[in-house]
Amino acid sequence: MSEHILELRNITKIFPGVKALDNVRFQLKKGEVHALMGENGAGKSTFIKIITGVHQPDGGDMLLDGKPVFFSSPNDAQAAGIAAIYQHVTCYPDLSVTENIFMGHERIGGFGRLKWNEMHAEAKTLLERLDATFSPKALMGSLSVAQQQIVEIAKAFSQNARIIIMDEPTAALTKRESEDLYRVTEQLRDEGVSIIFISHRFEDMYRVASRVTVFRDAQYIGSWNVKDISPKDMIIAMVGREITQLFPEKNHSAGKELFRVENLGKAGYFADISFTLREGEVLGFTGLVGAGRSELFQSIFGIMPYDRGRIFVEGREVSLRSPGQSMREGVAYLPEDRQKQGLVLTWSIGRNISLPSLKDYSRRGWIREKEEIRRSHSLSERLTVKAPSVHDPAGSLSGGNQQKVVMAKLLNTNARILILDEPTKGVDIGAKSAMYGIIDDLAKKGYGIILIASEMPEVLGMCDRIIVMKGGRMTAEFGRDDASQEAILEAAMANRPAG
Ligand SMILES: Nc1ncnc2c1ncn2[C@@H]1O[C@H](COP(=O)(O)OP(=O)(O)OP(=O)(O)O)[C@@H](O)[C@H]1O
Ligand SMILES: [Mg+2]
Repeated sequence: MSEHILELRNITKIFPGVKALDNVRFQLKKGEVHALMGENGAGKSTFIKIITGVHQPDGGDMLLDGKPVFFSSPNDAQAAGIAAIYQHVTCYPDLSVTENIFMGHERIGGFGRLKWNEMHAEAKTLLERLDATFSPKALMGSLSVAQQQIVEIAKAFSQNARIIIMDEPTAALTKRESEDLYRVTEQLRDEGVSIIFISHRFEDMYRVASRVTVFRDAQYIGSWNVKDISPKDMIIAMVGREITQLFPEKNHSAGKELFRVENLGKAGYFADISFTLREGEVLGFTGLVGAGRSELFQSIFGIMPYDRGRIFVEGREVSLRSPGQSMREGVAYLPEDRQKQGLVLTWSIGRNISLPSLKDYSRRGWIREKEEIRRSHSLSERLTVKAPSVHDPAGSLSGGNQQKVVMAKLLNTNARILILDEPTKGVDIGAKSAMYGIIDDLAKKGYGIILIASEMPEVLGMCDRIIVMKGGRMTAEFGRDDASQEAILEAAMANRPAG
């Protein structure tokens, strides 16, 4: 018996114009949690898809229990006991949770009848194990992204896999939900399941993995015991250089009022929300699970209606009842759920970026088209989008690079009020620091920026003022000098609204 349940040697994968993997190797022990880390576009998801038979390598060997295997389809990998939770939830929104869990491996009784009662019951047990509170009969489309992620995990469990691969499972999860996922992961590990865990969050790695392997630019960089590698050395392995200062120096000076919200409310979601945003300000909104931040800003942007309250842009009362209206008033929004908000994946990166400002380019023929390309190119460079050219389809980008394109698209609008909901989730540390630099630049140019953020260093490192929400209400407001992690957490858990 081999010491390793899974081993890959000299794996190479070439897509047209891109070498996604160049001679990489990897060893997975039975019953370990092994983190796989690297920048956006390093080749992590491609590597996973080779293990799960979605892609076939152009070179190299894969050994399962020491014996060579070749998977020509995902079914082969599944039959060999390998299950994966992919970076982008691949569910069927119109089907029930149970149907999603058993899709492709339904329980079938006599006369080919589907055993629905048995499947619902089994789904219920699986979901209970994951502490989920929704029904197996719920429609997948009615669930939040985090809940859909839980269904994906339940699906992997239902296949009795020996190897489970999770590609950025925590990217859409809150701290509390991540904690549940760690617990389940450890439980599986103790039962002898081997796990590969991809994440951009160092805290995931330190919390749940015992080994880590790093890829950079399609190449294998090294493997370490997690307890032996410092965050600083991890960054050097991943990025190839040190990042000494993640956050820019804050020296914004707030100008005149850009945006004001008075007593905004929506029954069951949020109430009594009042704040102002000035030119040159980064205003943070933070809070714990279900604090209502995303719902609040979806309403402000006109995606869902609010019941009461008033909104002012530069002192003028406005009615923001649709995203189109908001854009016309100079308000732009980067939603948390970037997959749904959607890039047009078959279009080029450049065309996606210029979509919001297409009107500006289409007036004067070919000169403008050059201008369009030039601008898309410069925005994608600033955001470190990794692609051979802006003419490539957005669908060929890695997950994190697609997110950078959504951000570029937003920067290409004429909006002066930017609402950014968790803009750095799923992007690597180098790109994070680039995004922080851009946000800072925009503030210096007089834009007003609302940053919805959960990670405390980001909140403290980026915001001039911080509003804390809990249960749909504002519980505290801090200036940049009186904010501290303790004070913010206390307000996030407070029982009574402030003031
Ligand atoms: N189907 C495809 N066609 C063409 N190129 C692709 C395809 N899939 C991936 N690539 C390219 O392969 C490289 C590796 O992408 P991959 O998705 O594996 O990165 P990743 O490490 O998972 O990044 P992220 O952290 O952003 O998810 C990227 O340059 C990407 O653009
Ligand atoms: Mg990926």
